[in-house]
Amino acid sequence: MQDYNYIQKQDKEIYDALMGEEQREAEGLELIPSENYISRAVREANGSILNNKYAEGYPGKRYYGGQEFTDAVEQVAIDRAKQLFNCQFANVQPLSGAPANMAMYFALLEPGDTVLGMHLEHGGHLTHGHPTTSINKVFNFVRYKMKDVDTGEIDYDELRAVAHEHKPKIILAGFSAYSRELEYTKFVEIAKEVGAYTVADMAHIAGLIAAGVARNPFDDGFDVITTTTHKTLRGPRGGMILTNTDEEIAKKINRAVFPGLQGGPHEHLIAGKAVAFGEASHPSFKEYALQILKNAKAMEEVFRAAGIRMLAGGTSNHLILADVYGSLGITGQEAETTLDAVGLTVNKNMIANDTRKALDPSGIRFGTPAITTRGMYEGEATRVAEIMVEVLKDINNETKKKQLKEEVVGLATAFPVPESFV
Ligand SMILES: Cc1ncc(COP(=O)(O)O)c(C=O)c1O
Repeated sequence: MQDYNYIQKQDKEIYDALMGEEQREAEGLELIPSENYISRAVREANGSILNNKYAEGYPGKRYYGGQEFTDAVEQVAIDRAKQLFNCQFANVQPLSGAPANMAMYFALLEPGDTVLGMHLEHGGHLTHGHPTTSINKVFNFVRYKMKDVDTGEIDYDELRAVAHEHKPKIILAGFSAYSRELEYTKFVEIAKEVGAYTVADMAHIAGLIAAGVARNPFDDGFDVITTTTHKTLRGPRGGMILTNTDEEIAKKINRAVFPGLQGGPHEHLIAGKAVAFGEASHPSFKEYALQILKNAKAMEEVFRAAGIRMLAGGTSNHLILADVYGSLGITGQEAETTLDAVGLTVNKNMIANDTRKALDPSGIRFGTPAITTRGMYEGEATRVAEIMVEVLKDINNETKKKQLKEEVVGLATAFPVPESFV
């Protein structure tokens, strides 16, 4: 556990909450597929002295003095990002995934332009233009969906037809609740037909791409990639925009991030990103990413054997979306709360063609990035999935839940988060 000596001395309220979270994370298992644990090295960078420094601008072109070390840190982060994702330009300043997407839209579009993205209930993300988001007031969003929700196949015919009808300026590939690989070449082909940019929001699978265990959209000719850095990539909470097309687009992206949308970059987090990118280029990261996939497959097998419907029929990546309402008659919220009670954290999630509402949908979403960081292999992943099924099939059995909670605490204690990954 990290030292919190100064907080302990001066701020009891925050100290108590931090201790609570330390215990929750130590004794429970994190199965939310967008979450992960960072190394001590990344934590040190995040909590470093760079927090003190304003560095508006970019390396070599800042608006404030005293940038010798911030420039060095940000340049290392940029260079490592470019190497990791095999591209020519990287902006590492976006504060998170949502601001990265906002900056990307403003870099490539004029107000009123159209974006073609994946439907939220079919796996897309809020920032891909959900009606409740502010960005929806500036740009026009149209949708594609899965053709077959039981295989996950995207309806590329519909995608092409919608693209020809609405002439989007961006065709957006990417998701937060979709468990199969996208056919990037089809996106590129259709984008060429209508003169659109291709953008991949790879927030969820950035680590899998960096490790080379999932396809890199740049290899199929994508123009831009946006991502978070804190999910499978296992870095600090943050965002990033990459491009490979030309310097003009890179300049537009830089201007859209600063001064377009943000002020001073968070150089302490950029230092954390640099350290995490260094970890992700280590050979052990590839093994980690491969194990994420194997562990997800192991969990899929348990759910299939239990007769619980999985959207897209299972998984080819790090996450599974299970229809607990259709299969077991319990809502996503009930499943989330019950699993939480035994120390397993998942999130409720809408499923394609859901008959229920977002705050109590039919599905749960879970995945393996965090348990794999803890050093779990297929055997443990299988057991975790079995515990989930046992709990979900008998949600009112308090004795069983008590026993299983003890087992989860035992497992979590036996697999503490490692301090270092390299
Ligand atoms: C595909 C995708 N894009 C963007 C985001 C937004 O990232 P953040 O929560 O860091 O703003 C997420 C987060 O879940 C995501 O899954």
